[in-house]
Amino acid sequence: MIPGKKQILVADDEPNLRRVLGAQLTRDGHEVHLVEDGLAALKCLTENHIDLVITDLKMPGLDGMGLLRKALEMDANLPVVMITAHGTVDNAVEALKTGAFDYVTKPFDQEELRTIVKKALMTRDLAARDATRADSAPHSRYGIIGQSPAVLEVYSLIDRVVDSPTTVLVTGESGTGKELVARALHESSARKNRPFIKVNCAAIPRELIESEFFGHERGAFTGAINAKPGRFELASGGTLFLDEIGAIPLETQVKLLRALQEGEFERVGGVRTIQVDVRLVAATNADLRKQIEEGTFREDLFYRLNVVEVKLPALRDRAFDIPLLVDHFISKYNARLNKSVQGITPEALSLLTSYSWPGNVRELENVIERAVLFTDGPKVQVEHLPAEIANKGRPGSDATSQEVGLKEQVRAAMSQLERQLIHKALEQTGGNVTHTARLLKLSRKGLQLKMKELGLRDAMKQNLKDDDELLEG
Ligand SMILES: Nc1ncnc2c1ncn2[C@@H]1O[C@H](COP(=O)(O)OP(=O)(O)OP(=O)(O)O)[C@@H](O)[C@H]1O
Ligand SMILES: [Mg+2]
Repeated sequence: MIPGKKQILVADDEPNLRRVLGAQLTRDGHEVHLVEDGLAALKCLTENHIDLVITDLKMPGLDGMGLLRKALEMDANLPVVMITAHGTVDNAVEALKTGAFDYVTKPFDQEELRTIVKKALMTRDLAARDATRADSAPHSRYGIIGQSPAVLEVYSLIDRVVDSPTTVLVTGESGTGKELVARALHESSARKNRPFIKVNCAAIPRELIESEFFGHERGAFTGAINAKPGRFELASGGTLFLDEIGAIPLETQVKLLRALQEGEFERVGGVRTIQVDVRLVAATNADLRKQIEEGTFREDLFYRLNVVEVKLPALRDRAFDIPLLVDHFISKYNARLNKSVQGITPEALSLLTSYSWPGNVRELENVIERAVLFTDGPKVQVEHLPAEIANKGRPGSDATSQEVGLKEQVRAAMSQLERQLIHKALEQTGGNVTHTARLLKLSRKGLQLKMKELGLRDAMKQNLKDDDELLEG
């Protein structure tokens, strides 16, 4: 295959026609495969990535109509153009009904053929583009999972700013993925091989924040024994992520604004002006507009930061994405915890989708991690969810975990323990039920009953060696 060239298959039993067609299509810049009958054409279709078929109707072996049907079975979007003898309109009509793209009559006009080929290839391209678009109706981009309109909007915003130096402000409640977006912006940009430097502005004492940002010279203040570059310098050429930007003291805000506007600053106690090329991403879960009204955040800095705002939705406002996220985290923690949980029961999932998620995606991730850890069967069940979520599904539901009866808690813990012990014993015996029963000092039938009760039998069916069906039905 020649890159960039379209591949056209010509099937005709007349050597002369093959030669003429082949010459013209090659001249027009296509890669051409010439075959003399339908069967050879099929073989060629399986071996190459053909974009267009031009075939004669009458051929020995498999004829043009037969080839058309087979070709469309293999690839419903493959354009097939029929060559028909002059005056055989019925055949042409039949071919079109069967799904041929078009037909040309012999002897054919070069210009007519050229137009048809062009149109067919264009249609092919469009179909291919639609197909990829449908396949990848994105549910995960930049490592961000989601398919709800709000998340699709986030994807397209990131697309738009990823390679511009624009400052981006990421806003959203705690745990909505602000840092994830900041890293995504960095990882997908041309800066990805340069540093990504994160500063949590809320975690730095206010008297140190300026030197943290801009560095300091030796002796700039008590304790400044050596000169030290700040985060701006360290991020040079890369991305500086200022998390919790709302926590910056007003006096530092002025300096930050200047650094952003002029692209230059001085170290604390220094006179030398330092210039750096840094892409700034800021994040906040505070309402900066409200802070402006209260006088704790500078309006000019806000507008400088807020060139592009990526607003992350709260998880409760995009419950549509919860099943996707649940699948994603189950796979993640299967791998991490060496488990093989296959999914979640509909009841458990429905509890997750109706919960309010004050901690957003971070909270969901923690809930799934714990559930994967506790699940021994194939699926996460209601009982594997934390009480404040699981109890929502029960009658008289406002019960907190303390209010669940002691007996009930003990029973749940016992089952969990039994499950673990049996599981471990089965692993030791390589899934041999007789040996496991002996190991646990149970009767074989007793073990099978217990396993059924705990849901272990179904979960482990594949791994059990001499498990009989005596309990079935
Ligand atoms: N859309 C998402 N797809 C996959 N994982 C996500 C998504 N959103 C968040 N996460 C995961 O949830 C966790 C919390 O995300 P992150 O730390 O980015 O949140 P945050 O908004 O910065 O929270 P905070 O305000 O508390 O700092 C991370 O483990 C992150 O990978
Ligand atoms: Mg964060």
